[in-house]
Amino acid sequence: MQRAQTAVDWPDWARRWEDQQLFHIPRREQRFQLMLELVGEIAGPEPTAILDLACGPGSISRRALNRFPRTRLVALDADPFLLEMGERTLGDAGGRLRWVRADLRGTEWVEQLREFAPFDAVLTATALHWLSASDLVHVYRGLAGLVRPGGVFFNAEHMMLARPTGRFGSVGKGLRLRLGRHEDGDGESWDQWWKAAQAEPAFAALLADRATVFDEIHPRHEEYIMADFHEEALKLAGFSETAVVFRYLDDTIVGGIR
Ligand SMILES: C[S@@+](CC[C@H](N)C(=O)[O-])C[C@H]1O[C@@H](n2cnc3c(N)ncnc32)[C@H](O)[C@@H]1O
Repeated sequence: MQRAQTAVDWPDWARRWEDQQLFHIPRREQRFQLMLELVGEIAGPEPTAILDLACGPGSISRRALNRFPRTRLVALDADPFLLEMGERTLGDAGGRLRWVRADLRGTEWVEQLREFAPFDAVLTATALHWLSASDLVHVYRGLAGLVRPGGVFFNAEHMMLARPTGRFGSVGKGLRLRLGRHEDGDGESWDQWWKAAQAEPAFAALLADRATVFDEIHPRHEEYIMADFHEEALKLAGFSETAVVFRYLDDTIVGGIR
């Protein structure tokens, strides 16, 4: 992986990442905690391997390493900049954490993960809305072949309450953000964080590499993909049970048991 040239305070950037995510998702910590507790409840108290899918700088990995002190983690993302931030702050966690660069829109990621499978759990947060509906179906099919029977999948992200044409469809996100800011005060937003990163000369090479994968910082939101679509796609892929295990307006966790 390409290394940035000048001294950068990576842990501080990673902390700012956490803050800007929290700015948009006030119940983010609760979502992480819930997913990890559900892994312990359903897949067992000592998972062997967990996949942090679309990991960014390893937000789930960091928490899972603490929650399950003997578990191995694999953190996958397509973004070389966020992967570098993760590696610079978490390292390999004493041999327990592996970083994998792969694009979920492609076909190679399943084979790249094969050597680490089977997984007891796959966890992902605030990420799969970057994928189209057909990509999502392919991703769930790929995951079904990597998770052991009885293992689990959890996806925490914003999913519209209803079709955008109706009142419920339009109310969720705005209200979540308004109430969240009321509770937590103002902070750095997603846009401000990326703008600051782009202004840091030491990140230029990594961000140029990133631009070869993502043509824009903002994802193409497929917000019409609602929780019921995720549940159906998981079942079609081979997950035996699915459920919405958390919901706060549009903030949702969908789970599946393999
Ligand atoms: C908002 S971040 C969330 C990161 C982390 N899960 C968290 O909660 O902090 C979304 C992540 O999804 C990743 N991502 C988006 N599309 C992807 C794709 N096609 N393949 C792999 N990763 C992808 C992005 O690079 C980014 O790291």
